Amino acid sequence: MNAVDIIIKKRDKQELSKEEINFFIQGIAKKEIPDYQAAAWAMAVLLNGMTDQETTDLTLAMAHSGQMIDLSHVIPNEVDKHSTGGVGDKTTLVVEPTVSACGLPVAKMSGRGLGFSGGTLDKMESIPGFRTQLSEEEFIHLIQTTGLVLAGQTADLAPADGILYALRDVTGTVPSIPLIASSVMSKKIAGGAHAIVLDVKVGKGAFMKNLDDARQLSRLMVSIGKLSGRKVVALLSDMNQPLGNAVGNALEVKEAIATLHGHGPADFTAHCIEVASHMLVVGGKAADLAEAKRTVEEALAAGRSWAQFRKLVVNQGGDVSYVDDPEKLARAPLIETVAAPRSGFIQEINAQVVGETSVELGAGRIKKGDPIDPAVGIIIQHKVGDQVKEGEPLFTIHANDKQKLAAARERLLDAHVIENQTCAPLPLFYGVLN
Ligand code: URA
Repeated sequence: MNAVDIIIKKRDKQELSKEEINFFIQGIAKKEIPDYQAAAWAMAVLLNGMTDQETTDLTLAMAHSGQMIDLSHVIPNEVDKHSTGGVGDKTTLVVEPTVSACGLPVAKMSGRGLGFSGGTLDKMESIPGFRTQLSEEEFIHLIQTTGLVLAGQTADLAPADGILYALRDVTGTVPSIPLIASSVMSKKIAGGAHAIVLDVKVGKGAFMKNLDDARQLSRLMVSIGKLSGRKVVALLSDMNQPLGNAVGNALEVKEAIATLHGHGPADFTAHCIEVASHMLVVGGKAADLAEAKRTVEEALAAGRSWAQFRKLVVNQGGDVSYVDDPEKLARAPLIETVAAPRSGFIQEINAQVVGETSVELGAGRIKKGDPIDPAVGIIIQHKVGDQVKEGEPLFTIHANDKQKLAAARERLLDAHVIENQTCAPLPLFYGVLN
């Protein structure tokens, strides 16, 4: 067996056996298969797809490519959540402390930015000192003692996914149902969560552009999770426009902090309450969604979610003075607010264009290992359906370079479609699968 034959087989649209998938994934994890072969294989999978059996084998091969954390002897009812990637999606920053404040331990395995979508690790690293690379011992110790941990993949946890994830980010191989399903579920299975809420994004700013694909991805992930003995629920959530107002790392941390204090954007707050509530139900902490929502809203209103967020920052080495006073977080040298070019109703705010613009400003990576600038990004002032008047603020750009700012201004003006006719607001969710 060799890597080239496996790439050729997938290129020629044939089904890979479990042995071939295991060989390839082990080769990636042991660094015996170089990046260029892994990237070529990922492109062949993106173009030619995989059967459900291949995707399941791929997920299990990636989950077993490193350490498998077993938390059942430590904590019997620990939950995790995972988003398939969106724009302005800072949900984990609010949901994790909230669920933990409601008494359910959350061991969160997060990722970095992927393509035009942001990543939780990059966001949290805007807080000086915050460490996301934890050893397995530290991960288990924190979940055991504080019920709250947020980490990236250790070199040992689903390492094949870690390597492929970074390659896919910069090789145009993100939007593939088998690659996303296996990437998400391998981390969740290796990370040891007993119950998992999947936030499956659908729309222009998601990797799944339509509901059929999002449903197919959800069904696959739910069935892989169940095969591994986990309780899994998938929420289909809208990603046609950015979630909340802020896009960009430090800007999103600020917005999450405002939300934890009760004054975040209405759509983002409602989204977080829904995701957190499903986590309480699937984690066995609430009998139904209505009870879960009351508990979650109470934790937020009483400041317990905020207290847990602070604790998370302190536990993982972050300088808490930056979250106590978010104005201390990195601030871009160039900040410009752009006015609405005409009056009317907002029909569209293209989330993919907003995400790509944020990456071009420096909030994401164009090449593997690129540094990111935590300060840059965009504040979108409106939501689809809002009425705007010519000259009133439409969005604010935070940039570190005049040319990038000018390019962002043009792209973001194009991303906003304003017409005379009224337009209904977008829904937050399209359904639930379990
Ligand atoms: N999140 C992941 O962890 N992997 C993907 O491929 C997409 C979103």
